[in-house]
Amino acid sequence: MKIVVIGGTGLIGTKLVNRLRHLGQEVIAASPTSGVNTITGAGLAAALAGARVVVDVANAPSFEDAAVLSFFETSGRNILAAEAAAGVGHHVALSVVGTDRLLQSGHFRAKVAQENLIKASSIPYTILRATQFFEFTGAIAQSATDGQSIRLSPALMRPVSSDDVAAALADVTSGAPLNGTIDLAGLEQFRLDELVRRFLQAKQDAQQVITDRQAPYFGALLNDRSLTPGDHPPRRADALRGMAQPVRDGALARSDGARSKRHLTKGEQKMLSRLLYGVAVAALATTATLADDPPATKSKVTLVFDHLLPNAPGKSMRCVLVDYQPGGSSPAHTHPGSAFIYATVLEGAIRSKVNDGPEKIYHAGESFAELPGDHHGVSANASNTQPARLLAVFVVDTADVNLVTPDK
Ligand SMILES: NC(=O)c1ccc[n+]([C@@H]2O[C@H](COP(=O)([O-])OP(=O)(O)OC[C@H]3O[C@@H](n4cnc5c(N)ncnc54)[C@H](OP(=O)(O)O)[C@@H]3O)[C@@H](O)[C@H]2O)c1
Repeated sequence: MKIVVIGGTGLIGTKLVNRLRHLGQEVIAASPTSGVNTITGAGLAAALAGARVVVDVANAPSFEDAAVLSFFETSGRNILAAEAAAGVGHHVALSVVGTDRLLQSGHFRAKVAQENLIKASSIPYTILRATQFFEFTGAIAQSATDGQSIRLSPALMRPVSSDDVAAALADVTSGAPLNGTIDLAGLEQFRLDELVRRFLQAKQDAQQVITDRQAPYFGALLNDRSLTPGDHPPRRADALRGMAQPVRDGALARSDGARSKRHLTKGEQKMLSRLLYGVAVAALATTATLADDPPATKSKVTLVFDHLLPNAPGKSMRCVLVDYQPGGSSPAHTHPGSAFIYATVLEGAIRSKVNDGPEKIYHAGESFAELPGDHHGVSANASNTQPARLLAVFVVDTADVNLVTPDK
Protein backbone atom coordinates (compact mmCIF):
# COMPACT_ATOMS: atom_id res chain seq x y z
CA MET A 1 0.00 0.00 0.00
CA LYS A 2 1.41 3.39 -0.96
CA ILE A 3 1.23 5.99 1.79
CA VAL A 4 2.24 9.63 1.42
CA VAL A 5 3.30 11.43 4.58
CA ILE A 6 3.04 15.19 4.05
CA GLY A 7 5.56 16.73 6.42
CA GLY A 8 7.44 13.43 6.39
CA THR A 9 10.70 15.18 7.32
CA GLY A 10 9.37 16.78 10.52
CA LEU A 11 9.46 15.53 14.11
CA ILE A 12 6.40 13.30 13.82
CA GLY A 13 6.72 12.73 10.08
CA THR A 14 10.20 11.20 10.31
CA LYS A 15 9.13 8.77 13.02
CA LEU A 16 5.94 7.85 11.21
CA VAL A 17 7.73 7.26 7.92
CA ASN A 18 10.25 4.98 9.65
CA ARG A 19 7.52 3.03 11.42
CA LEU A 20 5.45 2.53 8.28
CA ARG A 21 8.51 1.46 6.27
CA HIS A 22 9.39 -0.96 9.05
CA LEU A 23 5.89 -2.42 8.61
CA GLY A 24 6.69 -3.00 4.93
CA GLN A 25 4.62 -0.13 3.50
CA GLU A 26 5.66 1.92 0.50
CA VAL A 27 6.03 5.40 1.94
CA ILE A 28 6.79 8.77 0.37
CA ALA A 29 8.10 11.42 2.77
CA ALA A 30 6.68 14.51 1.08
CA SER A 31 7.88 17.98 2.02
CA PRO A 32 9.69 20.91 0.42
CA THR A 33 12.94 19.09 1.21
CA SER A 34 11.86 16.27 -1.12
CA GLY A 35 10.37 18.64 -3.73
CA VAL A 36 6.73 18.53 -2.57
CA ASN A 37 5.21 21.85 -1.55
CA THR A 38 1.57 21.87 -0.47
CA ILE A 39 1.39 25.67 -0.68
CA THR A 40 2.60 26.06 -4.26
CA GLY A 41 1.36 22.59 -5.24
CA ALA A 42 4.77 21.70 -6.66
CA GLY A 43 5.31 17.94 -6.82
CA LEU A 44 2.02 17.16 -5.07
CA ALA A 45 0.15 15.36 -7.85
CA ALA A 46 3.17 13.23 -8.72
CA ALA A 47 3.71 12.27 -5.08
CA LEU A 48 0.06 11.26 -4.64
CA ALA A 49 -0.25 9.18 -7.82
CA GLY A 50 -1.30 5.66 -6.81
CA ALA A 51 -1.46 6.52 -3.08
CA ARG A 52 -4.13 4.86 -0.95
CA VAL A 53 -3.55 6.92 2.21
CA VAL A 54 -2.24 10.45 2.79
CA VAL A 55 -1.15 11.48 6.27
CA ASP A 56 -0.83 15.22 6.85
CA VAL A 57 1.66 16.04 9.61
CA ALA A 58 2.97 19.24 8.04
CA ASN A 59 3.37 22.31 10.19
CA ALA A 60 3.43 25.99 9.36
CA PRO A 61 6.87 27.62 9.24
CA SER A 62 5.44 30.68 11.05
CA PHE A 63 3.05 30.74 14.03
CA GLU A 64 2.04 34.36 13.32
CA ASP A 65 -1.79 34.50 13.24
CA ALA A 66 -2.40 35.32 9.57
CA ALA A 67 0.50 33.22 8.29
CA VAL A 68 -0.49 30.08 10.15
CA LEU A 69 -4.12 30.36 9.06
CA SER A 70 -3.11 30.90 5.47
CA PHE A 71 -0.74 27.90 5.67
CA PHE A 72 -3.26 25.38 6.99
CA GLU A 73 -6.07 26.62 4.73
CA THR A 74 -4.02 26.67 1.55
CA SER A 75 -2.13 23.49 2.31
CA GLY A 76 -5.33 21.68 3.34
CA ARG A 77 -7.22 22.72 0.20
CA ASN A 78 -4.37 21.74 -2.10
CA ILE A 79 -3.82 18.36 -0.45
CA LEU A 80 -7.53 17.45 -0.46
CA ALA A 81 -7.94 18.50 -4.11
CA ALA A 82 -4.90 16.46 -5.11
CA GLU A 83 -6.25 13.48 -3.14
CA ALA A 84 -9.61 13.69 -4.92
CA ALA A 85 -7.83 13.72 -8.27
CA ALA A 86 -5.62 10.78 -7.32
CA GLY A 87 -8.48 8.70 -5.82
CA VAL A 88 -6.94 8.58 -2.33
CA GLY A 89 -9.13 6.54 0.04
CA HIS A 90 -8.08 7.83 3.46
CA HIS A 91 -6.88 11.22 4.65
CA VAL A 92 -5.27 11.16 8.09
CA ALA A 93 -4.44 14.42 9.83
CA LEU A 94 -2.75 15.31 13.08
CA SER A 95 -4.43 18.03 15.11
CA VAL A 96 -4.33 19.18 18.72
CA VAL A 97 -6.53 18.18 21.66
CA GLY A 98 -8.72 21.07 22.74
CA THR A 99 -8.21 22.99 19.50
CA ASP A 100 -11.77 24.31 19.48
CA ARG A 101 -11.48 25.49 23.10
CA LEU A 102 -8.44 27.63 22.27
CA LEU A 103 -9.87 29.91 19.64
CA GLN A 104 -8.30 33.03 21.14
CA SER A 105 -5.14 31.69 19.53
CA GLY A 106 -4.47 32.19 15.85
CA HIS A 107 -2.62 28.88 15.76
CA PHE A 108 -5.60 26.93 17.03
CA ARG A 109 -8.03 28.82 14.78
CA ALA A 110 -5.84 27.61 11.92
CA LYS A 111 -6.00 23.99 13.16
CA VAL A 112 -9.79 24.23 13.37
CA ALA A 113 -9.84 25.57 9.81
CA GLN A 114 -7.71 22.60 8.73
CA GLU A 115 -10.08 20.16 10.48
CA ASN A 116 -13.16 21.82 8.94
CA LEU A 117 -11.76 21.52 5.42
CA ILE A 118 -11.16 17.82 6.00
CA LYS A 119 -14.66 17.22 7.38
CA ALA A 120 -16.23 19.09 4.45
CA SER A 121 -14.27 17.19 1.82
CA SER A 122 -15.32 14.04 0.01
CA ILE A 123 -12.26 12.09 1.18
CA PRO A 124 -12.83 9.57 3.99
CA TYR A 125 -10.76 10.76 6.93
CA THR A 126 -9.48 10.26 10.44
CA ILE A 127 -8.33 13.17 12.56
CA LEU A 128 -6.01 12.30 15.42
CA ARG A 129 -5.89 15.06 17.99
CA ALA A 130 -2.84 14.75 20.21
CA THR A 131 -1.95 16.65 23.35
CA GLN A 132 1.31 18.61 23.53
CA PHE A 133 4.38 16.57 22.66
CA PHE A 134 6.91 16.28 25.50
CA GLU A 135 9.45 17.40 22.92
CA PHE A 136 7.45 20.63 22.55
CA THR A 137 8.12 21.66 26.17
CA GLY A 138 11.13 23.77 25.18
CA ALA A 139 9.10 25.62 22.57
CA ILE A 140 6.37 26.29 25.14
CA ALA A 141 8.99 27.73 27.51
CA GLN A 142 10.40 29.89 24.74
CA SER A 143 7.00 31.19 23.68
CA ALA A 144 6.24 32.22 27.28
CA THR A 145 9.58 33.88 27.98
CA ASP A 146 9.34 37.43 29.19
CA GLY A 147 12.85 38.78 29.74
CA GLN A 148 14.51 36.54 32.34
CA SER A 149 11.33 34.83 33.46
CA ILE A 150 8.77 32.52 31.96
CA ARG A 151 5.14 33.19 32.71
CA LEU A 152 2.88 30.17 32.51
CA SER A 153 -0.56 29.05 33.49
CA PRO A 154 -0.86 26.16 35.98
CA ALA A 155 -3.48 24.53 33.72
CA LEU A 156 -3.61 20.76 33.66
CA MET A 157 -2.21 18.95 30.66
CA ARG A 158 -1.41 15.36 29.66
CA PRO A 159 1.59 15.59 27.34
CA VAL A 160 2.48 12.74 25.06
CA SER A 161 5.73 11.64 23.45
CA SER A 162 6.28 11.98 19.72
CA ASP A 163 7.01 8.24 19.56
CA ASP A 164 3.54 7.50 20.84
CA VAL A 165 1.96 9.95 18.42
CA ALA A 166 3.80 8.29 15.54
CA ALA A 167 2.70 4.86 16.79
CA ALA A 168 -0.93 5.96 17.03
CA LEU A 169 -0.79 7.50 13.55
CA ALA A 170 0.70 4.28 12.16
CA ASP A 171 -2.23 2.36 13.69
CA VAL A 172 -4.76 4.80 12.28
CA THR A 173 -3.09 4.71 8.87
CA SER A 174 -3.32 0.93 8.75
CA GLY A 175 -7.03 0.93 9.65
CA ALA A 176 -10.22 2.02 7.95
CA PRO A 177 -11.19 5.72 7.93
CA LEU A 178 -13.26 6.62 11.00
CA ASN A 179 -14.75 9.78 9.52
CA GLY A 180 -14.27 11.02 13.05
CA THR A 181 -11.82 12.35 15.56
CA ILE A 182 -9.70 10.56 18.13
CA ASP A 183 -8.04 12.11 21.15
CA LEU A 184 -4.59 10.91 22.11
CA ALA A 185 -3.03 11.86 25.43
CA GLY A 186 -0.27 10.69 27.71
CA LEU A 187 -1.34 8.91 30.85
CA GLU A 188 0.35 11.22 33.30
CA GLN A 189 -1.10 14.58 34.19
CA PHE A 190 1.06 17.65 34.81
CA ARG A 191 0.48 21.30 35.45
CA LEU A 192 1.88 23.33 32.57
CA ASP A 193 4.03 25.60 34.76
CA GLU A 194 5.36 22.62 36.71
CA LEU A 195 6.22 20.65 33.58
CA VAL A 196 8.27 23.54 32.24
CA ARG A 197 9.95 23.99 35.65
CA ARG A 198 10.97 20.34 35.63
CA PHE A 199 12.15 20.64 32.05
CA LEU A 200 14.36 23.61 32.92
CA GLN A 201 15.72 21.88 36.02
CA ALA A 202 16.58 18.81 33.95
CA LYS A 203 18.47 21.12 31.58
CA GLN A 204 20.07 22.97 34.50
CA ASP A 205 18.59 26.16 33.13
CA ALA A 206 18.27 28.82 35.84
CA GLN A 207 15.33 30.66 34.27
CA GLN A 208 12.41 31.10 36.66
CA VAL A 209 8.87 30.02 35.87
CA ILE A 210 6.24 32.38 37.28
CA THR A 211 2.83 30.82 37.79
CA ASP A 212 0.19 33.10 36.32
CA ARG A 213 -3.37 31.99 35.62
CA GLN A 214 -3.73 34.87 33.18
CA ALA A 215 -0.64 33.96 31.15
CA PRO A 216 -1.73 33.14 27.61
CA TYR A 217 -0.72 29.94 25.90
CA PHE A 218 0.03 30.86 22.27
CA GLY A 219 -2.53 33.64 22.71
CA ALA A 220 -5.23 31.66 24.54
CA LEU A 221 -6.14 31.75 28.23
CA LEU A 222 -6.24 28.31 29.78
CA ASN A 223 -8.20 26.43 32.39
CA ASP A 224 -7.92 22.81 33.49
CA ARG A 225 -10.13 21.67 30.63
CA SER A 226 -8.32 23.52 27.83
CA LEU A 227 -5.50 21.09 27.11
CA THR A 228 -6.88 17.83 28.47
CA PRO A 229 -8.71 15.23 26.39
CA GLY A 230 -12.32 14.15 26.65
CA ASP A 231 -14.18 16.07 23.96
CA HIS A 232 -14.98 13.00 21.99
CA PRO A 233 -17.26 10.52 23.71
CA PRO A 234 -15.63 7.11 23.89
CA ARG A 235 -17.30 5.72 20.81
CA ARG A 236 -15.96 2.38 19.64
CA ALA A 237 -14.58 3.95 16.50
CA ASP A 238 -12.54 6.59 18.24
CA ALA A 239 -11.33 4.59 21.14
CA LEU A 240 -7.62 5.14 20.73
CA ARG A 241 -7.52 7.67 23.48
CA GLY A 242 -4.93 7.09 26.14
CA MET A 243 -2.74 4.62 24.33
CA ALA A 244 0.20 6.92 24.70
CA GLN A 245 2.77 6.70 27.42
CA PRO A 246 4.60 9.53 29.09
CA VAL A 247 8.33 9.88 29.46
CA ARG A 248 10.05 10.68 32.70
CA ASP A 249 12.01 13.73 33.75
CA GLY A 250 15.33 12.66 32.29
CA ALA A 251 13.88 12.44 28.84
CA LEU A 252 12.41 15.91 29.03
CA ALA A 253 15.78 17.47 28.48
CA ARG A 254 16.55 15.51 25.35
CA SER A 255 15.86 17.38 22.19
CA ASP A 256 16.14 14.26 20.03
CA GLY A 257 12.88 12.99 21.42
CA ALA A 258 14.52 9.88 22.83
CA ARG A 259 12.35 8.29 25.49
CA SER A 260 13.40 7.03 28.83
CA LYS A 261 13.22 3.27 28.98
CA ARG A 262 13.07 1.00 31.91
CA HIS A 263 14.28 -2.33 30.64
CA LEU A 264 12.55 -5.45 31.79
CA THR A 265 14.63 -8.24 33.26
CA LYS A 266 15.30 -11.20 30.96
CA GLY A 267 12.79 -13.35 32.85
CA GLU A 268 10.11 -10.69 32.52
CA GLN A 269 10.83 -10.27 28.83
CA LYS A 270 10.45 -14.00 28.29
CA MET A 271 7.22 -14.10 30.22
CA LEU A 272 5.86 -11.05 28.39
CA SER A 273 6.73 -12.38 24.98
CA ARG A 274 4.99 -15.65 25.79
CA LEU A 275 1.92 -13.80 27.02
CA LEU A 276 1.87 -11.42 24.10
CA TYR A 277 2.56 -13.94 21.38
CA GLY A 278 0.74 -12.91 18.25
CA VAL A 279 0.32 -9.29 19.31
CA ALA A 280 2.49 -6.56 17.80
CA VAL A 281 5.32 -5.98 20.22
CA ALA A 282 6.59 -2.68 18.93
CA ALA A 283 5.72 -0.96 22.17
CA LEU A 284 7.14 -3.65 24.41
CA ALA A 285 10.29 -1.86 25.41
CA THR A 286 8.49 1.32 26.28
CA THR A 287 7.34 2.09 29.73
CA ALA A 288 5.57 4.70 31.70
CA THR A 289 4.47 5.39 35.17
CA LEU A 290 0.77 4.87 35.09
CA ALA A 291 0.12 5.90 38.63
CA ASP A 292 2.14 5.88 41.76
CA ASP A 293 0.15 4.79 44.73
CA PRO A 294 0.46 7.02 47.76
CA PRO A 295 3.94 6.46 49.25
CA ALA A 296 2.50 4.91 52.40
CA THR A 297 1.33 1.87 50.44
CA LYS A 298 4.78 1.33 48.93
CA SER A 299 3.64 -0.01 45.59
CA LYS A 300 4.15 1.31 42.10
CA VAL A 301 2.27 0.63 38.88
CA THR A 302 4.14 0.90 35.58
CA LEU A 303 2.56 0.52 32.16
CA VAL A 304 4.84 -1.66 30.02
CA PHE A 305 2.67 -2.49 27.04
CA ASP A 306 -0.33 -0.89 25.39
CA HIS A 307 -1.69 -1.97 22.05
CA LEU A 308 -4.96 -1.99 20.18
CA LEU A 309 -6.23 -5.50 19.46
CA PRO A 310 -6.65 -5.39 15.68
CA ASN A 311 -9.04 -8.36 15.66
CA ALA A 312 -11.22 -7.02 18.49
CA PRO A 313 -12.27 -3.47 17.53
CA GLY A 314 -12.49 -1.13 20.49
CA LYS A 315 -10.39 -3.37 22.72
CA SER A 316 -6.79 -3.01 23.84
CA MET A 317 -4.28 -5.13 25.64
CA ARG A 318 -2.48 -3.27 28.39
CA CYS A 319 0.13 -4.73 30.70
CA VAL A 320 1.25 -3.24 33.97
CA LEU A 321 4.02 -4.18 36.34
CA VAL A 322 3.13 -3.71 39.98
CA ASP A 323 6.17 -3.40 42.22
CA TYR A 324 5.72 -3.81 45.95
CA GLN A 325 8.34 -2.83 48.43
CA PRO A 326 8.63 -5.12 51.47
CA GLY A 327 5.35 -4.81 53.36
CA GLY A 328 3.86 -2.77 50.49
CA SER A 329 0.28 -3.00 49.32
CA SER A 330 -2.20 -1.44 46.91
CA PRO A 331 -5.38 0.05 48.30
CA ALA A 332 -8.57 -2.00 47.77
CA HIS A 333 -9.74 -1.19 44.28
CA THR A 334 -11.79 -2.02 41.21
CA HIS A 335 -10.90 -2.01 37.53
CA PRO A 336 -12.92 -0.79 34.52
CA GLY A 337 -16.12 -2.75 34.00
CA SER A 338 -14.77 -3.92 30.64
CA ALA A 339 -11.52 -5.35 32.03
CA PHE A 340 -10.53 -8.99 32.03
CA ILE A 341 -7.25 -9.37 33.90
CA TYR A 342 -4.70 -12.14 34.07
CA ALA A 343 -2.06 -11.55 36.73
CA THR A 344 1.19 -13.46 37.19
CA VAL A 345 3.58 -13.09 40.08
CA LEU A 346 7.06 -12.50 38.70
CA GLU A 347 8.99 -12.15 41.91
CA GLY A 348 8.35 -12.75 45.60
CA ALA A 349 4.87 -13.54 46.88
CA ILE A 350 1.59 -11.62 46.66
CA ARG A 351 -1.33 -11.80 49.06
CA SER A 352 -4.57 -11.34 47.16
CA LYS A 353 -8.30 -11.48 47.78
CA VAL A 354 -10.82 -10.99 45.00
CA ASN A 355 -14.49 -10.40 45.91
CA ASP A 356 -15.63 -12.73 48.68
CA GLY A 357 -13.03 -15.37 47.82
CA PRO A 358 -10.40 -16.50 50.30
CA GLU A 359 -7.27 -14.49 50.86
CA LYS A 360 -4.53 -16.43 49.07
CA ILE A 361 -0.78 -16.18 48.67
CA TYR A 362 0.57 -16.51 45.13
CA HIS A 363 4.26 -17.20 44.63
CA ALA A 364 6.47 -16.37 41.63
CA GLY A 365 5.11 -18.14 38.55
CA GLU A 366 1.57 -18.50 39.95
CA SER A 367 -1.35 -16.63 38.40
CA PHE A 368 -4.90 -15.51 39.08
CA ALA A 369 -7.60 -13.84 37.05
CA GLU A 370 -10.04 -11.02 37.70
CA LEU A 371 -13.30 -10.82 35.80
CA PRO A 372 -15.14 -7.64 34.74
CA GLY A 373 -16.68 -6.02 37.82
CA ASP A 374 -14.53 -7.86 40.37
CA HIS A 375 -13.46 -6.12 43.54
CA HIS A 376 -9.80 -6.55 44.50
CA GLY A 377 -9.96 -6.16 48.26
CA VAL A 378 -6.42 -7.25 49.14
CA SER A 379 -3.37 -6.87 46.95
CA ALA A 380 -0.18 -6.85 48.98
CA ASN A 381 3.34 -8.09 49.26
CA ALA A 382 3.17 -11.20 51.45
CA SER A 383 6.66 -10.48 52.75
CA ASN A 384 7.85 -7.72 55.04
CA THR A 385 11.48 -8.26 54.04
CA GLN A 386 11.53 -9.04 50.30
CA PRO A 387 10.16 -7.02 47.34
CA ALA A 388 7.49 -8.54 45.12
CA ARG A 389 6.48 -7.95 41.54
CA LEU A 390 3.32 -8.74 39.63
CA LEU A 391 2.53 -8.53 35.92
CA ALA A 392 -1.13 -7.83 35.15
CA VAL A 393 -2.41 -8.20 31.59
CA PHE A 394 -5.63 -6.33 30.88
CA VAL A 395 -7.96 -6.87 27.95
CA VAL A 396 -10.04 -3.75 28.21
CA ASP A 397 -12.12 -1.27 26.22
CA THR A 398 -9.55 1.07 24.69
CA ALA A 399 -11.48 4.06 25.99
CA ASP A 400 -11.07 2.85 29.58
CA VAL A 401 -7.74 4.49 30.26
CA ASN A 402 -8.01 4.58 34.03
CA LEU A 403 -7.11 1.02 34.95
CA VAL A 404 -7.37 1.24 38.73
CA THR A 405 -9.97 3.01 40.87
CA PRO A 406 -9.21 2.89 44.61
CA ASP A 407 -12.20 2.37 46.91
CA LYS A 408 -13.58 5.58 48.37
N1 LIG B 1 3.77 20.47 18.89
C1 LIG B 1 2.83 19.84 19.52
O1 LIG B 1 2.87 19.64 20.73
C2 LIG B 1 1.65 19.31 18.72
C3 LIG B 1 0.62 18.67 19.39
C4 LIG B 1 -0.41 18.11 18.65
C5 LIG B 1 -0.40 18.24 17.26
N2 LIG B 1 0.61 18.89 16.64
C6 LIG B 1 0.60 18.95 15.17
O2 LIG B 1 1.55 18.01 14.70
C7 LIG B 1 1.90 18.34 13.37
C8 LIG B 1 3.36 18.01 13.12
O3 LIG B 1 4.16 18.71 14.02
P1 LIG B 1 5.75 18.51 14.03
O4 LIG B 1 6.23 19.08 15.30
O5 LIG B 1 6.12 17.13 13.62
O6 LIG B 1 6.18 19.50 12.84
P2 LIG B 1 7.65 19.91 12.38
O7 LIG B 1 8.70 19.08 13.05
O8 LIG B 1 7.76 21.39 12.49
O9 LIG B 1 7.66 19.50 10.84
C9 LIG B 1 6.93 20.23 9.93
C10 LIG B 1 6.91 19.49 8.61
O10 LIG B 1 6.07 20.23 7.71
C11 LIG B 1 6.76 20.32 6.47
N3 LIG B 1 6.32 21.47 5.70
C12 LIG B 1 6.47 22.78 5.98
N4 LIG B 1 5.98 23.52 4.95
C13 LIG B 1 5.52 22.66 4.04
C14 LIG B 1 4.93 22.80 2.75
N5 LIG B 1 4.70 24.00 2.22
N6 LIG B 1 4.59 21.69 2.08
C15 LIG B 1 4.79 20.46 2.60
N7 LIG B 1 5.34 20.25 3.79
C16 LIG B 1 5.72 21.34 4.51
C17 LIG B 1 8.23 20.43 6.86
O11 LIG B 1 9.03 20.12 5.74
P3 LIG B 1 10.56 20.55 5.59
O12 LIG B 1 11.32 19.75 6.61
O13 LIG B 1 10.95 20.16 4.20
O14 LIG B 1 10.60 22.02 5.85
C18 LIG B 1 8.29 19.35 7.94
O15 LIG B 1 8.40 18.08 7.38
C19 LIG B 1 1.48 19.79 13.16
O16 LIG B 1 0.37 19.84 12.28
C20 LIG B 1 1.04 20.25 14.55
O17 LIG B 1 -0.03 21.17 14.48
C21 LIG B 1 1.62 19.43 17.33
